[in-house]
Amino acid sequence: MSSILIIGAERGLGLGLAQTLHAQGWDVTGTALHGADTVELGKVATVSNVDVTLARDIEPLLAAVGTFDVIFMVAGVYGPLHNSVVEATEAELSDIMMTNCFGPIRLVHHLLDRLNSGGTLAVMSSHRASIALNTEPGLKLDLYRASKVALNMLARTIHTDTGLTVLSIHPGWAATAMGTLDGTVEAEMSVEESVTGMAEVLMANMGCGEHRYLDWAGRPLPW
Ligand SMILES: NC(=O)c1ccc[n+]([C@@H]2O[C@H](COP(=O)([O-])OP(=O)(O)OC[C@H]3O[C@@H](n4cnc5c(N)ncnc54)[C@H](OP(=O)(O)O)[C@@H]3O)[C@@H](O)[C@H]2O)c1
Repeated sequence: MSSILIIGAERGLGLGLAQTLHAQGWDVTGTALHGADTVELGKVATVSNVDVTLARDIEPLLAAVGTFDVIFMVAGVYGPLHNSVVEATEAELSDIMMTNCFGPIRLVHHLLDRLNSGGTLAVMSSHRASIALNTEPGLKLDLYRASKVALNMLARTIHTDTGLTVLSIHPGWAATAMGTLDGTVEAEMSVEESVTGMAEVLMANMGCGEHRYLDWAGRPLPW
């Protein structure tokens, strides 16, 4: 039985992944923010708590969890609706970078020795992190794009420094709170379709020894 730690699993894609992998026989540990509703997560996973932006949450998490075949950093935010680097306040700039990149990467460094031999680190990226694919004019996604590019870059550094398998995964445009901007726009795919695909991608690429940037269907994305 394979084991996974999913950081950010109380709802959305993290919860969907926890449910799907549990149904496939994985041993799942999932984290939620303190005080979050973890009833659904608790049905399929051992539940721990962490806010990825808080250094003080790292030691308690380390004390609560064991070792894993896969660690998947899923937690993330869209940032302010305007998403503009010109309009953003300093707090908005700092929040999205801490939540989507620096916080998760700092946490991963503390969790590296919790990966079993041959283990895999996955980070929830986005096709919006692709510099090569940034060709569509008018998309106001400055902050989100920058945070996910930075996440991919620091995930690459972990691969380069450790030789670990690292997967930067684009889940597709999925119907979560984030994917629908809290129900105001229509996404392209269901959570189930996205997480079923990502589970297959995990199994097909675990332990490959590379840093791969793949979508939910296993297709490589250009950096
Ligand atoms: N949905 C899409 O179409 C799409 C596309 C590309 C990439 N992604 C990425 O997929 C990941 C999951 O997003 P989602 O669509 O499932 O969105 P979601 O439903 O909004 O879920 C985001 C999760 O991250 C958690 N989170 C936010 N800030 C956190 C923090 N500081 N510490 C720990 N957890 C935190 C949230 O906790 P709360 O429930 O407490 O808010 C929530 O569980 C994100 O990294 C996102 O960027 C999503």
